Amino acid sequence: MRMPRSVRDADVAGKTVLVRADLNVPLEDGRVADDTRIRASLPTLELLLERGAAEVRVCSHLGRPKTEEDRARYAIAPVEARLRELLPDDRIRVLENTRFDPGETRNDEAFARRLAEGCDLYVNDAFGSAHRAHASTEAVAHLLPAYAGLLLVQELEHLGRLLGEVERPFVLVCGGAKVDDKLGVLRNLGGKADSVLVGGKMAEEVRVQNPLDFPVELPVDVVGASTFAEDAETRVCSYDRLPYGWLGLDIGPETRLRFAERLASARTIFWNGPMGVFEWPAFAAGTRAVAEAVAANEGAFSVVGGADSVRALNELGLADRVSWVSTGGGASLELLEGKELPGVAAIPSA
Ligand code: 3PG
Repeated sequence: MRMPRSVRDADVAGKTVLVRADLNVPLEDGRVADDTRIRASLPTLELLLERGAAEVRVCSHLGRPKTEEDRARYAIAPVEARLRELLPDDRIRVLENTRFDPGETRNDEAFARRLAEGCDLYVNDAFGSAHRAHASTEAVAHLLPAYAGLLLVQELEHLGRLLGEVERPFVLVCGGAKVDDKLGVLRNLGGKADSVLVGGKMAEEVRVQNPLDFPVELPVDVVGASTFAEDAETRVCSYDRLPYGWLGLDIGPETRLRFAERLASARTIFWNGPMGVFEWPAFAAGTRAVAEAVAANEGAFSVVGGADSVRALNELGLADRVSWVSTGGGASLELLEGKELPGVAAIPSA
């Protein structure tokens, strides 16, 4: 995979540096609910400050603002407050949500020029947004000398390992609901994996449509629910014994054991997507079992991507037991589909 040149190779002393970070974090009651992406952006900012940058201008999008009311809802202020708590330094300036400017998502050069004004260098550290060709991720990279931030480089190195020669067995675990988004990854990596374990809503799609041309392991049993509700009546049964109208909302105990066995002997693991509706305790055991099995295999190179799987790992306190937790949702999927990400393509090579 082509690697972009790193900010480590830039001379930043005395310069004003524009940094595109992905600070698109979940908010609850106007406060940052999970600061993982803010913390992940710190090493690049710290490096720039340590190396004597005169000013570090940080920009990011937040949410998908559409209406005037969304301007208050998605103001960058709470994100900036958290960033300043973690890294108090007067040389940092945080720009307003890039998506408040309609030119951002149109990859508009005029908006890119406004972003670049007064800056000497551009650093893209927004791996989570690198699949977007937007003004702050793409157009601006053609207006200033452009470099990749430390997080962006690390994401490419870790995820890139899955695209090259991998240690075997290579086990791919895929779940969750965004079926169309994930079929591309399954097609690209699935044929190369030794075992492909599919759970969650993905499993139903694969079972019904069989859109793959390599063997996959589907759940042999499920936790069935009488209706789509947290307190629904539940029953463990094989998939084909689900009563009419019932839904399979988690993988069952026999499947958990089989998946855990596969994961225990793996040397390379990629996991994306929960095994069921893990936000509801009655349907969380499958995702928990996969998270624990991935974390328990300390000898494997393990990568976990996608907001829900990462959230499950964080809630179980297991995030530091896997080799790499990706900050990218769509970006990690597109990279593993084999696509070149526009935010990366715009940066000269290392
Ligand atoms: C993400 O959360 O996946 C990134 O921040 C990109 O956000 P977007 O899907 O709104 O472009």
